[in-house]
Amino acid sequence: MGLTPIWHLRESAPDAEQAPAADMPARNESRVTSHESPQPATGDRRAEIMSLEWAQLKQRVAGCRDCPLHAKRNKAVFGVGDENADWLFVGEGPGADEDAQGEPFVGQAGRLLDNMLAAIKLKRGDNVYIANCVKCRPPGNRNPEPGELLACEPYLHRQIDLIRPKLIVALGKVAAANLLATDASVASMRGKIHQYRGTPLIVTYHPAYLLRTLPDKAKAWADLCFAVRTMQELSKA
Ligand code: URA
Ligand code: SF4
Repeated sequence: MGLTPIWHLRESAPDAEQAPAADMPARNESRVTSHESPQPATGDRRAEIMSLEWAQLKQRVAGCRDCPLHAKRNKAVFGVGDENADWLFVGEGPGADEDAQGEPFVGQAGRLLDNMLAAIKLKRGDNVYIANCVKCRPPGNRNPEPGELLACEPYLHRQIDLIRPKLIVALGKVAAANLLATDASVASMRGKIHQYRGTPLIVTYHPAYLLRTLPDKAKAWADLCFAVRTMQELSKA
């Protein structure tokens, strides 16, 4: 199978478990510890970010120096898509291509994500918004550190408040673990409706992981089918 397989939506998703919704607590507010320069107290900073409208928020992220990731980034990667989308896909953080272009999921994993979207008749920018947990690239594609995730979280939180998506799809372990404040495996989080600050959230594998682990693509299929069914239910409600 090539790097850009065409995905087709199947009628049914045989191995998508339909476990009952598990209400997860929202993350606790806690302190950002990784600032290099004096910053307002965490609560003040969050409140300030939560007051921003789109244009100001984009500007704030573009110039943000609130965690160590700012030092080596080329471009902060704000997020892209329909600002009134029903669907929000959240990855971990920018890689090299994203850092160069300033747009999320534009490398190989991004092509697979676009194919995954196409398989459920969605496309980037049309009822879909794509964002990451951290807006600046972790050097060498390492995982973002807890302090970096924490520092960047108010931006995603504000994006979600502005977009008001019906459903969030967390892509991969880092995004899911961060949003749900848990250390659980993707395998254990799949097939359930979680909540992120009151918005339904489902978990699937990261496209970069799927590129390395082809056998799990069938599971990602099932997750996409589950996501579509969940969206149908949410749209009825
Ligand atoms: N991986 C991610 O998690 N996000 C991107 O934007 C690109 C690759
Ligand atoms: Fe700011 Fe987030 Fe970039 Fe850190 S990762 S510098 S908090 S935009």
